[in-house]
Amino acid sequence: MRIPLIAANWKMHKTVNEAAEFVHRFAMLAAAGDIETVICPAFVHLAAVGELCRKHGIRLGAQNMFWETAGAFTGEVSPPMLKDLGVDYVIIGHSERREHFAETDQLISRKVKAAFQFDLVPILCVGETLQQRQANKAMDVIAEQVSTALSGLDPSRVRRTVIAYEPVWAIGSGLAATGSDAGAAGERIRTTIGEMFSLKVARDVRILYGGSVNAENIQDFLRETEIDGALVGGASLDADSFARLVNSAQKAVVV
Ligand code: 13P
Repeated sequence: MRIPLIAANWKMHKTVNEAAEFVHRFAMLAAAGDIETVICPAFVHLAAVGELCRKHGIRLGAQNMFWETAGAFTGEVSPPMLKDLGVDYVIIGHSERREHFAETDQLISRKVKAAFQFDLVPILCVGETLQQRQANKAMDVIAEQVSTALSGLDPSRVRRTVIAYEPVWAIGSGLAATGSDAGAAGERIRTTIGEMFSLKVARDVRILYGGSVNAENIQDFLRETEIDGALVGGASLDADSFARLVNSAQKAVVV
């Protein structure tokens, strides 16, 4: 049984006061029920937001990390530092990091391994560009990203991984993928993991869709058998809008 998960990726937004106000208001409005909710604020707000999240049963996520434990790596944040602040999840390999910070599949793989070493659950992001989709390469790109990032991992760890399928063209564009596009990508991701590890492992991995998700379209994604939740950018920045989204998702997961 995979627990549905909706995660807010705030990216580089919000002051600490705005972040705190958000958590209070969201907790008041959202009836998450069976859904696990996660907030991923900027590093500098993890401590403050984490304290509030714990009071409301919301999980805490970081948006990135380095793979080394400690050392002369100016500006970087290590896995034990995140663990120390009560972080549960860490987004790894977001397309914005691949694009603006030159993150490769190999580098992402090191981060995924480091996350597991410190008992952090990676939310591994994969997804094709518009050009790759138009060239009919979307599924191969996704499979390659998944297999490189997860290679060499212990199956008992892989089964805890969360994978976010985020087509680059759908991020921040208002042009979400269709439910069935997301479902097809989810199926390919699960097949890839099944071939690398086992069907049992593949069945446990949670797969999210991300890219212009909002309260109106969230149910289209959750209806897909292979999609277990969403990674939300823009619509997670406003407490009312994110609560509407979670409440709408809640209706779709009730059986
Ligand atoms: P949007 O929801 O703003 O499209 O962003 C998606 C995203 O990048 C989440 O990680």
